[in-house]
Amino acid sequence: VSSFNIVNYSLRPSKHVQRQLVFDGLQRLSTSIPLDDRVYIGFGSIWFTDFVHAHKALGIERLVSIEHDAIGFSRASFNKPFSTVDVIKGDSSTVLKGMFAEGSEYIDSQWIMWLDYDGHFSEDVAADLRLVVERAPSNSVVIITFNAVGKRYGKPIERPKVLQQIFGSAAPATLAVADCTESKFPSTIASVAMRFMQTTAHDAGRIGGFVPAFRISYSDSANMVTVGGVLPTAASRTAVTELVKAADWPGFVDQPISIPHLTAREAIALQACLPCTPPLSRASVQSMGFDLEESQLDAFVRYYKQYPSFAQVVL
Ligand SMILES: C[S@@+](CC[C@H](N)C(=O)[O-])C[C@H]1O[C@@H](n2cnc3c(N)ncnc32)[C@H](O)[C@@H]1O
Repeated sequence: VSSFNIVNYSLRPSKHVQRQLVFDGLQRLSTSIPLDDRVYIGFGSIWFTDFVHAHKALGIERLVSIEHDAIGFSRASFNKPFSTVDVIKGDSSTVLKGMFAEGSEYIDSQWIMWLDYDGHFSEDVAADLRLVVERAPSNSVVIITFNAVGKRYGKPIERPKVLQQIFGSAAPATLAVADCTESKFPSTIASVAMRFMQTTAHDAGRIGGFVPAFRISYSDSANMVTVGGVLPTAASRTAVTELVKAADWPGFVDQPISIPHLTAREAIALQACLPCTPPLSRASVQSMGFDLEESQLDAFVRYYKQYPSFAQVVL
């Protein structure tokens, strides 16, 4: 069953915050890499939430969504939000190869590519990512999201080997079972996936290499990881490296994003107190007449600017 039958991607608060951070980063990157002819390539599903950001916030006109599910493709074609969205039917493994074929209309553009998979990082995903990192045009941005729940990669004792099978030499030979426990696994696989992108760019002889720019993990129900970066030219590498080193760069998030589901009334009451010094305490929430766990309060305080407002529309 495709994920769009289970999940309305526009209604997941942690994913929403993660998307905002990615697009904030992409917006900043567009000031430091020469981007004259951009195409956004991704999996818009039937909701196209990321595509709306790409068009409205980044001003990208050419948008390509890949969809492998037959009904999903029909619904995506119906739901595409702008006339310039091209929905291509097929699996990414085939469609991406076509994008590099002789005479492809995409090869002379810079790609802002976000492969937002539903599932775990499989060998097929590795093949997609390898192809893109090896061959995407210079100054492209490549981002990937995948399920990082440990049990999708076997029992803890099997996980180091599974990672080596998927990522080859990018998974360090020293990887231990202790790095692959449920709590450590998302961070471990994020590091390995990032290293995979770096070594692939290096082995492909890309002169500007690969500059890591995004590493965000989040959880609405399952732990998901987003990693990615830029494939700069030799000339733009320094500017990109400087940009992502800045203290306020939004693409590197140390703690997994896990945003509480709040009622509109709760969110408005908390927001009306922010920003504030000293930080909002649990005792002050209790004095407002409700309660939250410390971790829920911390997450709201950190991300209230990106916190989504959802409402039911009666049609
Ligand atoms: C996680 S959703 C995309 C959510 C969207 N990017 C957003 O920000 O709301 C993934 C979509 O891509 C499709 N999909 C997943 N893997 C794919 C693949 N390898 N090739 C083509 N389509 C794929 C799924 O059917 C689903 O519609």
